[in-house]
Formats: sequence, structure tokens, C-alpha cells
Amino acid sequence: MATKSAVVQELESPSPEATPDVSLAGRDLCSVADLTTTELAGMLALAHDVKTNPSAYRWALDAKQMVMFFEKASLRTRLTFQTAMNTLGGSALFVDQTQSPLGERESLADIARNVERWVQIIVLRTYAHETITEMAQYASVPVVNALSDLEHPCQAIADFMTLEERFGNLRGFNFTYVGDGNNVCHSLMLTAALLGAHCTVGSPKNYAPKADIVAQARAIANVTGSNITLINDPIAAMTGADAIYTDVCTSMGFEHEAMKRAPIFKPYQVNETTMALAAPSAVFMHCLPAHRNAEVTDAVLDGPQSVVFDQAENRMHAQKALLLMLLGKGQKCL
Ligand code: CP
Ligand code: NVA
Repeated sequence: MATKSAVVQELESPSPEATPDVSLAGRDLCSVADLTTTELAGMLALAHDVKTNPSAYRWALDAKQMVMFFEKASLRTRLTFQTAMNTLGGSALFVDQTQSPLGERESLADIARNVERWVQIIVLRTYAHETITEMAQYASVPVVNALSDLEHPCQAIADFMTLEERFGNLRGFNFTYVGDGNNVCHSLMLTAALLGAHCTVGSPKNYAPKADIVAQARAIANVTGSNITLINDPIAAMTGADAIYTDVCTSMGFEHEAMKRAPIFKPYQVNETTMALAAPSAVFMHCLPAHRNAEVTDAVLDGPQSVVFDQAENRMHAQKALLLMLLGKGQKCL
């Protein structure tokens, strides 16, 4: 059964937290659903300000230390966390865990008890989502999900920052995701729901997003007034959309299924014909890396409606806002 998300709890029992004065000091970010609408809106507002006025935040995290343990490959997430931390005055330490998963050499609890003595924040990219939630449970410093098999919250926050830049308030916005109901899809659904945007997911049978995440997103959407729609028909999903988002059909960790998946996902490709089904002002989005001419054609990825490199840039600005808030410097700077 889906657990009650933070936003549902917030609206059921309004607390001082539900004010524009948002504080996330000391908190973890394992899932988008850890945030209330107010907290997410506050983070996005800070992200826009950080992007506009970077020099105002130049030393906000002076001497703070961040460690990043990554079990999977990364270009964007690694470099945007490192550049974000470095340009806020702190330092980023990278630990390559691609050869030995976290918890293999010593327990997660022991890693947490060591690392919290040296650093102020822990960033994890893992296979098992539980590695992140367990680390969050053991560590006294904030833990951030930089992608797990279940979610990719930092990606989704930057993506909705990108949409806000283009479209302003996203209440009633028609966001469409086509393809695998994967980690990125999960975080996008939750983020859309929190911001009151409608979210349609068009995915093949057996590749829909997980039922408990859908239930969580729908519980939030009931409060914010949006709709979460799941369908199998990619044409119906893309028709009239304000944004079309796709991701690889085979995520990291599922490579052994690549041959089986390729033909199943073919009808879900975003190309010039399917992009033309969207609203004339619609944008094309992808978290990257893309498998060119598989889930999206070059013509769309490199075309005038594509905002994929704005998304990539905004990873850095959004993560600056996240780091500032989790380390208690968000309010001071706003
Ligand atoms: N979008 C994203 O997370 O990219 P990386 O896997 O390169 O970090
Ligand atoms: N769904 C993809 C996203 C990569 C950024 C994966 O998990 O491999």
C-alpha cells in the first residue's frame, strides 16, 4: 500500500512548514514525495534565483564537504553536483563504487557512522533504492538520491525548473511521458502531481510505472487538482501535450533485457510525426544520455522544440538550491 506522502499530510494538518519560509535543513531527499508542494516550490524559487544571481551564493557553503558514492556511471549528475558544490564554496569528494556495491566491504551503518564525522552531506547513486533509504536512516547528515532503480528526484526537479522557465506556473500543464515506466518516470509523475500539472504516461503493457508510485502520485494529485493518467497508446499520450518527455527503454541495470525491449518500445519513439501531435508550443525533453534514433530521432533531439541541454544545465542550478536548503542556507540566501 502506498504510504501517505508529505503533501497529503501537509494539507490534512497545516503546519508552520506550509509557509513560504521553507526550511529543509538536515533533511534527506530519497524521493520527490519527501517534499511538500510548498517545499518544492521554495526549492524551485531558490533554483531560479541561484541561476540568475550566482555570485550572491558564491561562498554560501564555504568549507562544506560533500561525498558522492556512485554504483552506476554518470556524466551530468556527477559533474553538476561537483560544479554546484565547488561554486558554492564547498568541496566534492567522489567515490567510484561501480566495481563493488556499497555495503559489500563494510555495512551501510558503519559507512554512515564514519562518513558523518567528516562530511556534511552524502549523495548516492545506487541500484537498490533501499541502499539510499537505509543510509538516510543511519547517517545523521542529509542523504540525497542521485538516482536509484526506483527514482531520480534531482533530475525531475531540474526538469520542472526548465518547464517553469518556459511556461511559468505549471498548474493545469499537460505533461506527457512516453516509454518505460522507470525511475525517471516515477520522479516526474510525483513532481508533476506536487506542482498541479497533469501527467500522462504512455507505456507498453508490462512496462507501466510501479503501482505504489502511481498511487502516491494520485494521492498528491487529488490534493493539488491534477490528473495522473496511464495509457498504452503512445499516439493518444502525445496528442495535445505541452511537453513530451522520453527516456531510454533500457535503464542501467537492465542491459540484459535490451534485445527483448527494443521492438516493444518502437511504437513509443518520439519523431517528427509524433512530435507534431503535441501543442504547437510544446517542448521535447529527455534526461540524457539518449540512444539516438531509438527512443527519439536526431531530428527531434536536435530540433527547435528540444530543451534537453537546458535541462542538463538546470541540473546544476537546481542542485545548488537543494544543497543550500538541506545544509540550512536556503532561507538566508533568498
Ligand atoms: N541525466 C542523468 O542523470 O545523467 P547521468 O547519468 O550522466 O548522470
Ligand atoms: N532511466 C535511466 C536514466 C539515466 C539518467 C537509467 O536509470 O539508466
